[in-house]
Amino acid sequence: MQVKPKYISLEPFLPWFQLPKPISWDKVFGRSSPLVLEIGFGRGEYLVRRALDEPYKNFVGIEIGWISIRKLLRSIGKHGIKNIKVIQADARVALEWVFAQKSLSMIYSLFPCPWPKRRHQKHRLFSRDFLRLVNSRLQMDGKLMVVTDHMAYCHWILAQSQGSGLAPELERIGPSFATKYEKKWTQLGQKEFFRLIFRKLEHIEVPERGEISLKTHRVRAFSPEKLTLRGHKDGAVVEFKEMLYDPLRQKTMIRALVVEGPLRQDFWVQVVKRGDQWIIGPAKGCSLVPTQGVQRVLDLVFEAISSQQA
Ligand SMILES: C[S@@+](CC[C@H](N)C(=O)[O-])C[C@H]1O[C@@H](n2cnc3c(N)ncnc32)[C@H](O)[C@@H]1O
Repeated sequence: MQVKPKYISLEPFLPWFQLPKPISWDKVFGRSSPLVLEIGFGRGEYLVRRALDEPYKNFVGIEIGWISIRKLLRSIGKHGIKNIKVIQADARVALEWVFAQKSLSMIYSLFPCPWPKRRHQKHRLFSRDFLRLVNSRLQMDGKLMVVTDHMAYCHWILAQSQGSGLAPELERIGPSFATKYEKKWTQLGQKEFFRLIFRKLEHIEVPERGEISLKTHRVRAFSPEKLTLRGHKDGAVVEFKEMLYDPLRQKTMIRALVVEGPLRQDFWVQVVKRGDQWIIGPAKGCSLVPTQGVQRVLDLVFEAISSQQA
C-alpha cells in the first residue's frame, strides 16, 4: 500500500522560530518585491489566485491550523507557485517577531472569526493593540483590508481603529473572494459583506521583538528525586508539566510551558551531569524562541536546585 502524500513539497513552509528574526523576506524569496500578507487563509483559495495573478509580488500566508496549511501546500505544489511562503503561527506573534517595521505593502484577512458572544470578544484579532502592530509593520503607503460577514464585528473594528494611525473606509460588497467562508454565508442567504480598507496615515512605532542570549546555569549538587518545581505568574506565565529522570545517563528532563502574551512555548529543559557539575539548559531538539520567559524557566529550575542545598 502506498501512502498518498498530504502535500507535494514542504519547501514553501518556513520554520520561522529557527530563522534569524525579523525575517529577511528578500533573501527568503531571492528577490526584492512588494510583500503581501494574508492572515487566516483557511483553504488558501484566494491567496493562490492572487499569487498567480500578481507573480511580481511576494506573498506570505499565516495560519494557526495545520490542516489549512497542508491544503495550501498541496495547492501551491499543484500550481507550481513560487511566490508564496507559509508560516504556522498566531498572527499576533508573527507580526511582532517575523516582520520588520514598514516591511509590508498590504495585509488582508477574509472572514476572520467574529467571536459574536460578549464573553468571547477578548479573542477578536483586530483589537486596538493589534491594529497598532499592523500599522507599524505596514509601509507608509501600505493598506490593511478586512472583509467580514458580521456587521457588529465590523463596527467593533472601526471603533478599535481610533488612535491606530490607520484611516478606515467601509464599503458594502457582494461575494467577491470565493473562499470557503464566503461561500458558506452566501449559501445561507447572505448577499452583502463588509469590506474595511485602512490606509496608513502616520507611523506608529512598535519595535520588533528581539531574541535574547539564553544563560545556562551550573550547579555542583543535585538530587532529582527531591526536586520540587513551582510555576510563576509575573509577566511570563510559567508552568512545569512533568519531569523524567534517567539515573543511568544522569540526565533529568523537565517539561515547561511558558506563555508570554500570544506566544506559547512548550519545551523541555535538561539537567545533565558533566564532570563534577550539573548543567541546566534547553534540551537538544526543542525548537524555541529564546525569550525572557524561557530564561525565567531556566532560572526557576536553577533556583529550585540551589534551594536543595540551602
Ligand atoms: C473563519 S475562518 C476564514 C478562513 C478563510 N479566510 C475563508 O474566508 O474561508 C478564520 C481562519 O483564521 C484562522 N485564524 C484564527 N485566528 C488566527 C490567528 N490569531 N492567527 C492566524 N490565523 C488565525 C483560523 O484558523 C481560520 O482558518
